[in-house]
Amino acid sequence: MEEIDITTRNRIAELRRAIEDHNRRYHEEAAPSISDREYDRLFRELSDLETRFPNLAAPDSPTQRVGGKPLKAFGQITHRIPMLSLDNTYSEEEVTDFYRRMERLLPNEKIPVVIEPKVDGVAVSLLYEKGELRYAATRGDGSIGDDITQNIRTIRTVPKRLRGDAPDILEVRGEAFLDKRGFAKLNAERTKAGLPEFANPRNAAAGSLKQLDPAIAAQRPLGVVFYGTGVIEGAVLEKHSELFPLLKTLGLPCSEGWRLADSVEGILRAIHELDRVRHDFAYQTDGAVVKVDAFAQRDVLGFTAKSPRWAIAFKYEAERVETRLHDILIQVGRTGILTPVAALEPVAVGGSRVARATLHNEEEIERKDIRIGDVVLIEKAGDVIPAVISVRTDLRTGSERKFRMPKKCPQCGSLVVKDKGQVAVRCVNSQCPAQLRRRIEHFASRGAMDIEGLGEAMVSQLVEHKMLGDVSNIYELNAATLSELERMGEKSISNLLNAIERSKSRPLWRLIFGLGILHVGVSASRALADHFPNLDAIMKGSVEELQRIPDVGEVVGRSIYDFFREPGNLEMIEKLRGAGLQFKGEEKTLDHSGSKMKGTTWVITGTLGQSRDEIAEMIIAQGGKVSGSVSKKTSFVLAGEDAGSKLEKAKKLGIRVVNEAELRKMMV
Ligand code: IVH
Repeated sequence: MEEIDITTRNRIAELRRAIEDHNRRYHEEAAPSISDREYDRLFRELSDLETRFPNLAAPDSPTQRVGGKPLKAFGQITHRIPMLSLDNTYSEEEVTDFYRRMERLLPNEKIPVVIEPKVDGVAVSLLYEKGELRYAATRGDGSIGDDITQNIRTIRTVPKRLRGDAPDILEVRGEAFLDKRGFAKLNAERTKAGLPEFANPRNAAAGSLKQLDPAIAAQRPLGVVFYGTGVIEGAVLEKHSELFPLLKTLGLPCSEGWRLADSVEGILRAIHELDRVRHDFAYQTDGAVVKVDAFAQRDVLGFTAKSPRWAIAFKYEAERVETRLHDILIQVGRTGILTPVAALEPVAVGGSRVARATLHNEEEIERKDIRIGDVVLIEKAGDVIPAVISVRTDLRTGSERKFRMPKKCPQCGSLVVKDKGQVAVRCVNSQCPAQLRRRIEHFASRGAMDIEGLGEAMVSQLVEHKMLGDVSNIYELNAATLSELERMGEKSISNLLNAIERSKSRPLWRLIFGLGILHVGVSASRALADHFPNLDAIMKGSVEELQRIPDVGEVVGRSIYDFFREPGNLEMIEKLRGAGLQFKGEEKTLDHSGSKMKGTTWVITGTLGQSRDEIAEMIIAQGGKVSGSVSKKTSFVLAGEDAGSKLEKAKKLGIRVVNEAELRKMMV
């Protein structure tokens, strides 16, 4: 055995600590701080050291476990068959070794394998009993996961009931994902709302599934790809490749682009072919999974402590290209934060054209020693947000310039400050036109007060014409002043004024979110509106009272407290009160006197984003009734996708048909 020196011991301890820390960030906080590649390197280094020095191997080493701890806030589900992970590799040689090892263990047998895309999402397991979705869980630590049934039910493509002849029990396993377009949209909305962007679609999907409020999960464009099973009763499968047609008949979405091979050459060819087509999939993929097709052969091959011997994941390198960084621009956000952005010579990477990359903050630029004029290596981390990885210092000519964060806001010339303990630099002028524009855009956005017609261009014009100094001025706009603006005819003026009028009745949580308080997102806004009777009570709340609210905590509580101590904000809030906005929370008693739905009768039909039972509950909670068939007494038909005869009948009887979005509007 090799001799163990103190440096090796220290390194092992250090690696374990670092990996635990990254695991926690990744699995529990859905906010990793290093790339998968870097993580895999640390993991590999540790597992190599443990193999070389078996005396130092430990049962509680992160190499011996699968994933993160389940979240306490959710119910827990014990997996009847553990959810294991796979060995990862970036090397074709290791794929070859994997196949050769199986050939040794199964001498004189052909070993067909399936090669399918490795979807970069969150592992989930769904159990259907007699065709009905019973529950859905995350992997958690492999043995126990979080009960995420309510959130999974909001996914359109996940059937609540299987089609056709379903097995008595079918547990399907796969990957929940946020599609690439939905991800880009979500991040754009988060930026607008002053919230941090998700680093990649996988974190966004994890974040969405871990939302305690299914209504928020429902707003995220999630999907699932199934690629395996857990418990099955009442059906017999002999091969993995038989699973896909079965899943299809049952109406379950499954792996696409999969191939079969029975040689090393065939496997490598399939891996390369998949790499060429994977950018066309709606979801993010980061590799190919190679699995033995025949279950009988899998049984012979068996498992190691952590993963099966019959499967391996080959990971593609994230695409990296070099390009020139022409300039570093400064963006001023709603809360005044100055973010440096790289203006790049446009290049094609990861299937799209990239001209901008985020540089996060000044420290990041210094750490990577990025200078204006440098040739930089950019990576499309998670295929979506491009990031500058490193600099080709060897190509420097001496004409490159160091970046200095401006001491003054590039938009208004005010001084900028760095808050204690924060890396970000902020423009402190609350009247800064850039901040003002962003704050008003946010207030009027769909997620907040939803004022149609008050988008970016309109807000810019109004701010330029000094018609808006804060959001309360929105309610002072009138036809006479609006007619001074370019291209504002009578029709657009009345549309805008009507939209503004309608916004006055938006529920309290939307108003709170719309105020754009630093760190206060939708969940915190909803939680505040639920806990306090009205805005005045929130305004009076002490930091201690505020931080006791779920989704708030210390930093957010302090930020809310400070916001309501700022004289300018108080003045604005009084004007909003004067304009007649909703300062009271919704009644949680069974008094439906104010509800538009009181006394209405509903019929629900078609496939909807939420289960029918849940929707029915919401309608009943608001004083409505739900009936199974359409008649003259029906007030509304809620129609989802593929609605059939009930929809036809409603149309014939002239009954109003609404979709889910319209229903939600009636409820707020
Ligand atoms: S099979 C026994 N197939 O990648 C292991 N996993 O690094 C069964 N993943 O834990 C997993 N796409 O969360 C399998 N087509 C695919 C996959 C896939 C993504 C995930 C899964 C797994 C991890 C392994």
